[in-house]
Amino acid sequence: MAAAVSGSGPGAPGILIGPLDLAARVDEALAVQAVAFGLGPEEVEVRRHIVLRHFDHPQARALGATTPTGRLVGFVYGLPNDRSQWWSTVVEPYLRATGSDGWLDDSFVITELHVHPDHQQHGIGRTLITTITDAVGQPRSILSAIDTESPARGLYRALGYRDLARQVHFPSAPKPYAVMGAPLPLRRGQAIDFRPPPPPG
Ligand SMILES: CC(C)(COP(=O)(O)OP(=O)(O)OC[C@H]1O[C@@H](n2cnc3c(N)ncnc32)[C@H](O)[C@@H]1OP(=O)(O)O)[C@@H](O)C(=O)NCCC(=O)NCCS
Repeated sequence: MAAAVSGSGPGAPGILIGPLDLAARVDEALAVQAVAFGLGPEEVEVRRHIVLRHFDHPQARALGATTPTGRLVGFVYGLPNDRSQWWSTVVEPYLRATGSDGWLDDSFVITELHVHPDHQQHGIGRTLITTITDAVGQPRSILSAIDTESPARGLYRALGYRDLARQVHFPSAPKPYAVMGAPLPLRRGQAIDFRPPPPPG
């Protein structure tokens, strides 16, 4: 797991980014996701079970962004891809059709990344995803995002993710997704220093 880093990036005073016990703080995380991504109470309940099931996996990892008072304002989690998992079985035929299903092997999946709207555009999302992927053993990362020009798609592209398949339909999801993949480590843009300043003197 990535070491905790703390400090104050531009516009993100005192935000701490470090390991998150997602099983213990699943309700706080889903509250962030609900407002960032727009989930209703029923979807939150469905996702709660999914998150807890994912966290049975010994290599599942999560990082959180917290305020100085301990409020969770962002999180990321993921796990190594397993072709037998539901997500992988849905995207596999789409990736096979574009000749990119090899990305499903030896790949770290970013399952969720969300930052509370009050704290967006301060470098927190970028720091969460680069920090979590820096600590994994896989040489590449894959994820799915709603197939539209969104801040998430802009962030992923800036980090080196490219489209592997588009118009991917997940059962019960109203909008199609794009599946994206990037080699690790992720490409660095403008660095934001979340470490504490050195002591004076
Ligand atoms: C996607 C998300 C996690 C980004 O978090 P964030 O902390 O706001 O992102 P950052 O401040 O680290 O921004 C990093 C990069 O993302 C892109 N980005 C962020 N917000 C953007 C916006 N409103 N418009 C366009 N690009 C944007 C830019 O490339 C930005 O780099 P730059 O600052 O050098 O221009 C956040 O917008 C979010 O939670 N969105 C709603 C939930 C969601 O869609 N999650 C992803 C599901 S796949």
